[in-house]
Amino acid sequence: MATPPSLLIQDSRTRRVFDVPIHNGTIRAMDLRQIKEGPDDFGMMTYDPAFQNTASCRSAITYIDGDKGILRYRGYPIEQLAEQCSFLEVAYLLLEGELPTQAHLAHWRDEVTHHTMLHETTKKFLEGFRYDAHPMAMFISTVAALSSVYDDARNVLDPAARRRQVLRLIGKVPTIAAYTYRHSLGLPYVYPDNDLSYTANFMNMLWKMVEPRYVAHPALTKALDILFILHADHEQNCSTNVMRSVGSSQADPFVSVAAAAAALSGPLHGGANEEVLKMLAVIGSKDNVPAYVKQVKEGHGKLMGFGHRVYKNFDPRARIIKWAAEQVFEVTGPNRMQEVALELERIALNDEYFIQRKLYPNVDFYSGIMYQAMGFQPELFTVLFAIPRTVGWLAQWQEMIVDPEQKIARPRQVYTGAPEREFVPIEMRTLVTSAAR
Ligand code: SDX
Repeated sequence: MATPPSLLIQDSRTRRVFDVPIHNGTIRAMDLRQIKEGPDDFGMMTYDPAFQNTASCRSAITYIDGDKGILRYRGYPIEQLAEQCSFLEVAYLLLEGELPTQAHLAHWRDEVTHHTMLHETTKKFLEGFRYDAHPMAMFISTVAALSSVYDDARNVLDPAARRRQVLRLIGKVPTIAAYTYRHSLGLPYVYPDNDLSYTANFMNMLWKMVEPRYVAHPALTKALDILFILHADHEQNCSTNVMRSVGSSQADPFVSVAAAAAALSGPLHGGANEEVLKMLAVIGSKDNVPAYVKQVKEGHGKLMGFGHRVYKNFDPRARIIKWAAEQVFEVTGPNRMQEVALELERIALNDEYFIQRKLYPNVDFYSGIMYQAMGFQPELFTVLFAIPRTVGWLAQWQEMIVDPEQKIARPRQVYTGAPEREFVPIEMRTLVTSAAR
């Protein structure tokens, strides 16, 4: 039998050699703890700020190849899923691991649909926000508030209880999102219409006024379904890392999703799509693009919607979104922001500064102008990211809960603070100057 691959590590401090097994192209960090300088030494650790080269888990959900621009959900290429599936079909795939049969999908859609309503007390909770509260802050708080409604949510080790919370969260996040929008406009809430598809119902809850039934343009509901599919999961991104970490303490899935959404709200992560639109508005016209790009190259700000920790060639989702945006613009009419975005992309893709740093349009670059053309306000963009990503967070959460290798997440540190020192009574203390710190 072939000898399993291993890493031979020689410690120059002790001259000792260690044979560390290699599994799936990685070594187990705990296998390094045997490397010690002396008997009292704690043992070797790895130091990896922002986890740039650390695998925190084994996962079978999403595969990304950043150099080849590959993204697959449970082995299926994102391009095929975006073209041929509905969002709920992809949600089933991510959570269950297989594409649903017709019967499975019908039952799944029925189960999710019957969890779209919010408890009336939750609506009152939402009414407590100021009229101009940011929808993402309202979304995060209201999802967390659901933790106070469902006592069984804490039974995270019970598969049936987990499934009930999964259905509740997937069913309710569009309702919460729509309510935050209606609240900001002082409009009455629109109750879910369970005869509509997931995305058509969401648009109904956003935009129905006094007509008997809101009828969304089919090209726009299809475009939103595609956007939801593209945003559903993305392996161990910042917010998913939070979902796994908070969930690892066996906190309930409502507060875990709220924590993950809080991470997503950052401008370097899911908040980027709102920042892209602000950036395009500041640029104003395609003629101003060269001057703006010059400022970025001089270190004044970033090109929002560009760059990615994993994709170093192109984000496959950006290509699909660009195509979907063109379908939307055909319905909604020519879009000045699109002109600015196309010019910015053309210039940046040919500029050595961005090429050298492997900065290409990411998922957020085109989604913002597409959402705006569809009638969404920029403040709602990150909420639109959180709705589908709730499925990915939940799929990753349940995979973590049942993973025998996982336990409560608790990283180590490299201590750089003061060595032990004697306590100083307050009357003997002098002002510590910054130099002395
Ligand atoms: C998402 O992880 C995921 O999968 C996330 C996501 C998902 O689906 O969950 O894909 C969603 O978050 C997409 C990214 C959205 N964010 C943005 O568009 C914000 C702008 N982009 C950046 O802030 C940045 O590119 C990140 C945060 C996305 C990635 O940052 P990294 O990998 O830590 O790269 P870095 O910050 O170390 O940058 C490397 C160099 C630096 O220059 P130098 O200091 O070496 O000179 O590139 C520069 C950076 O200054 N740089 C940029 C830039 N992004 C990086 N310069 C200008 N414009 C940018 N957008």
